[in-house]
Amino acid sequence: MSLSPNLHLVDNEKMPTEQRVKNLLSRMTIAEKIGQMSQVQSYAGWLTDELAADIKAGKIGSIINEVDLDTVNAMQYVATKESRLGIPLLIGRDVIHGFKTIFPIPLGQAASWQPDLIRQAAHVSALEAATTGVNWTFAPMIDISRDPRWGRIAESFGEDPYLTSVLGVAMSEGYQTEDLANTGAIAACAKHFVGYGAAESGRDYNTTNIPENELRNVYLKPFKALADHGIATFMTAFNDLNGVPASGNDWLTQTVLREEWQYSGMVVSDWDSIKELSVHGFTANDKEAALAGFNAGINMEMASSTYQDHLLTLLSEGKISLAQIDDMVSGILKLKFDLGLFEQPFTNPEQLPELVNPQHLALAKETAIKSCVLLKNQGQTGSKLSQPLLPLSLDKLNSLAVIGPFADDGYEQLGTWIFDGEEQHSQTCLSAIKQLIADTDTDLTLHVAKGVENSRTTSCDGFEQAVNCAAQSDAVVMVLGEESILSGEAHSRSTIDLPGAQEQLIEAISATGKPIVLVIMAGRQLTLGNIIDKVDAILYAWHPGSMGGPAIVDLLFGTAAPSGKLPVTFPRVLGQIPIYYNQKNTGRPVTDASCIHMNDIEARAPQTSLGMTASHLDTHYTPLFPFGFGLSYSTVEYSNLTILTPSVSLGGTVKACVEITNTGSREMEEVVQLYTRDLVASVTRPVKELKAFKTVKLAAKERQTVVFEINTDELAFYNRQMQLVTEAGDFQLWIAGDSASTNYVEFTLTEN
Ligand code: GLC
Repeated sequence: MSLSPNLHLVDNEKMPTEQRVKNLLSRMTIAEKIGQMSQVQSYAGWLTDELAADIKAGKIGSIINEVDLDTVNAMQYVATKESRLGIPLLIGRDVIHGFKTIFPIPLGQAASWQPDLIRQAAHVSALEAATTGVNWTFAPMIDISRDPRWGRIAESFGEDPYLTSVLGVAMSEGYQTEDLANTGAIAACAKHFVGYGAAESGRDYNTTNIPENELRNVYLKPFKALADHGIATFMTAFNDLNGVPASGNDWLTQTVLREEWQYSGMVVSDWDSIKELSVHGFTANDKEAALAGFNAGINMEMASSTYQDHLLTLLSEGKISLAQIDDMVSGILKLKFDLGLFEQPFTNPEQLPELVNPQHLALAKETAIKSCVLLKNQGQTGSKLSQPLLPLSLDKLNSLAVIGPFADDGYEQLGTWIFDGEEQHSQTCLSAIKQLIADTDTDLTLHVAKGVENSRTTSCDGFEQAVNCAAQSDAVVMVLGEESILSGEAHSRSTIDLPGAQEQLIEAISATGKPIVLVIMAGRQLTLGNIIDKVDAILYAWHPGSMGGPAIVDLLFGTAAPSGKLPVTFPRVLGQIPIYYNQKNTGRPVTDASCIHMNDIEARAPQTSLGMTASHLDTHYTPLFPFGFGLSYSTVEYSNLTILTPSVSLGGTVKACVEITNTGSREMEEVVQLYTRDLVASVTRPVKELKAFKTVKLAAKERQTVVFEINTDELAFYNRQMQLVTEAGDFQLWIAGDSASTNYVEFTLTEN
């Protein structure tokens, strides 16, 4: 492919990229260099004259949100054939959990605990996005999220740093493949750097105050993993972090990211987040904001134009240097060379797979199956279904009621951040059940009612029809939850019950005495305490994406078995938030004995009579469902947990094993989890920390011995001096099916 004009004399793709960057930089004017540092929004669907002129003049380094292929190719033509130096454009788009084929929201994908599946889903997403000329996406979002009031928990991989690190790397590998120049590979982006998920009260964009030790031991961990993995870009966050907004925080992006971590990738600000430094009151105006963002080492400004408007002046005033500008622009040019854009700036969709093709949909279905978590499954005495309600059996059912606003809503099941997803490609629960009936030639009668128009409906007008449907059916499948608009960016909730009249609807259907399966589609964990005893089974589907319907129906009728495990803790009540498994022990840890409910307190009880421990008087201290929890259609037994290395020297390997038995009557997959606890250290350490996991397949009645080996480096943490250390001492270790296990073994780390 011929090179852009004027470059053939001093550039060729056989040169080392560093040399190519240097050559090009030496030919650029200061205005052209500053132009590379600006990302401009465009979703016109055509190339406006003004934008074409700016691209031709070298004022733009990247476009965000244009996905019309002809327009993107036209932009690249102007950039590479009509501008003076022919520098191609980065084309950015949020491809958070799919482009046209939509996969479960990332929080749902996290519930699969399947890095390989997530890698494949990201790769398909990249292939589809690349058909429109997109070559950069702003994912994975790896903000540690402990507060389900925060709408963006939907985009995260949940509360745990290790799980988020492993799944974030897998997603990035899927987008980037092993070579960014591959056809269909797109640059990924670790976001939002850092601490965004700790927004006070879960209110989006709100202030975050995170002590450095907690920042390094929890929130920074996934970002370090992605930096080490070689993710192409980072995005700085909106939030005020300890008084210094993340998009003007040179400690964060210079000291930690560039100097400590030696990260050489490109950093982009979040949308307007540099301009917003003045809204924070951190800078007085756009010029100061540009200086702060620049000094923080942010290579490219997204959406706002403080760089374009003020960097030249700042340079002339000697507040920034040409060397600094060259360094920032070099990171941008390197990415463009790495992406192969100078050799191939144009997109030929024929080199890429069809959108929403059967293979992509099959992967979306498999991912949705693995993402669903079975939270409850018990038989209902007295009904014809005396066994655990799930899986439903077509042989035993003559009629089935399908109730709820999400049983047949191809849009809502897609979830948040689906810029390019379309409901026309969705297959819903109802359509999948109808297909199942047709395929199995069964005479199952369906009775269908929405009950409520949508998840926020407060009217009970639809209840009567729904109750009638339930009353004339052998069992009921209810598909309830949150509309997709109730999670995602700027969509935080101060309560996290099922919204609208859905709880009342469950109450009304429960009064019919029919067995109920509740399928929940939501962008966060919800508080289910009010309804959990009114249904016989709960399948948590998050927002499951295009193929959510067939996935859920395969699970409901046993074609597939649930294997998902929770990536977040489910609180009993809102007031427990933040509640997460890897908490600190405190000086007065609560126990069952010390957790006395206020209704059990005698009148005029003396001040210290209740036990002085870290509990609430009005709710049990444990979660409704713990991190790592998930049922299947079989039962599994863990036994003979054994530490094979009771004493390990620093730098050695800790080995442990456990026997797991499938005590049920059908095959199953179990995500086996290994947790450790550092009992005494120079800073307090969590009561449990996930350190490894693996999925084990078990035939009915099969027993396997599962062995884990972890290097002692996995036990490292940042001490009071903010040094990453592993300290000798005593540890506890669990291998279990969730984080609530009480069965542990012990080992000791010794100095060499
Ligand atoms: C948004 C989000 C960020 C996204 C960017 C581009 O405000 O915070 O996650 O990638 O802007 O859409």
